Amino acid sequence: MRKPTKLIFNLINYLLLGRLNGEKRNMIYSSVFKDESKLDLSYVPLRLVHREKQLNLLYQFFRLLIESPGEMSHRVLITGKVGTGKTALAQRFGLNLMAEARRRGINLNYLHVNCRECKGKFFLILQRVITAFRPNFPKRGYSTEELLQFLMEMLDDKNAYLILALDELESLIANEGTEAVYKLTRIHESRLGKPSRLSLICILREIEYLEKLDESTRSTLQKNIIHLEEYSKHQLVDILRERVKLAFKPNTVLNEAIELIAELAELEGGNARYAIELLWRAGKYADANGLFEVIPECVREASASVYPTIRKDEIADLDLHEQLLLLGIARVFQQSAKAYIKTSEAEEAYAVVCEEYGEKPRKHTQFWNYLRKLSAYGILRIQVSGKGQRGKTSLISLPYIPASELERLLTIIVEKR
Ligand SMILES: Nc1ncnc2c1ncn2[C@@H]1O[C@H](COP(=O)(O)OP(=O)(O)O)[C@@H](O)[C@H]1O
Ligand SMILES: [Mg+2]
Repeated sequence: MRKPTKLIFNLINYLLLGRLNGEKRNMIYSSVFKDESKLDLSYVPLRLVHREKQLNLLYQFFRLLIESPGEMSHRVLITGKVGTGKTALAQRFGLNLMAEARRRGINLNYLHVNCRECKGKFFLILQRVITAFRPNFPKRGYSTEELLQFLMEMLDDKNAYLILALDELESLIANEGTEAVYKLTRIHESRLGKPSRLSLICILREIEYLEKLDESTRSTLQKNIIHLEEYSKHQLVDILRERVKLAFKPNTVLNEAIELIAELAELEGGNARYAIELLWRAGKYADANGLFEVIPECVREASASVYPTIRKDEIADLDLHEQLLLLGIARVFQQSAKAYIKTSEAEEAYAVVCEEYGEKPRKHTQFWNYLRKLSAYGILRIQVSGKGQRGKTSLISLPYIPASELERLLTIIVEKR
């Protein structure tokens, strides 16, 4: 027994239920969770352990914005692999800075927009930004140029400043090329004499993606980079402990379980998102098995069903035809022993799936757009084959998730639609 409270808890349980700790509890007995919402991906933690330095760096980059607002616009790039805390860092920073600005009487707004959720469309991103200020703004009838113009005028009218965080920027670049980011970084050049109202935080998984941007945009962003390293096991343990305190009832998660989760998440590229998902799932298994506490076996069960790099919501948010293509690809991989397939095989499989669901397959160029997007999201990989083949062929691989699991998931999603 680790703590006296635990002892008393177990004693009461024994007296009431005639059971000892570790044994199964009555199923109608309450859950190990205190507040599951604290394990949501959308929850922004108040304290970001092991990211204090980066938070401070962001503050340094943007300090002028609240010391002398309007003087210049700022651009910062945050990079790091999945689950290194990019989104959480930007959001925490935004909330903190807004609070500070309010104290100083500055109308500073932080808006966090996920480019993937906007389907990588600049138009939808701008629309989302504007409707955050003007909920009734008409959804149709404006070009992106006009929306941008309107946004700046609106900020002028309100004497407001905006930090726009573009999360999962890969998606915007994959969909629109470099123009959108270029326009955003250059907007103040055509506003000579007016205050700088728009600053940017760009968030990317791979810094290599920057190379797709034109040189001047790239150099603007490269000046202020915050790169988030993968979390180590002990950092993950600290992150998990914090979250356990918020989400679970006291003494319901064994230290051994936390250690095991941290170890698994470290192996998956120091991925805190995976760690938190495992923690949640392990809690669910504890509840489902009627246990008093989350034990390592719950973690083992959880790890068999959580895939670290693929997010269900990400797949559910795809367009129907992207899902159909992915379903086709998953089937090819499931039915063969291949590690790589040619894009022509994928296109055929896509056509078959389309037929099955009574959809007309999209044209070849569109098919390629889908592939590029799926690769930008990190769901599959595209490589150009080298030796041994005449000419260049692109090869597709699916290294991150079992094809059978992907097929199962997609079938459910597509059939729901
Ligand atoms: N330093 C940290 N402290 C507490 N929670 C963190 C920390 N870093 C990441 N997280 C949590 O881990 C999960 C993944 O982080 P996220 O910011 O979404 O990663 P990324 O955007 O880099 O993929 C989120 O639930 C987030 O709240
Ligand atoms: Mg993120």
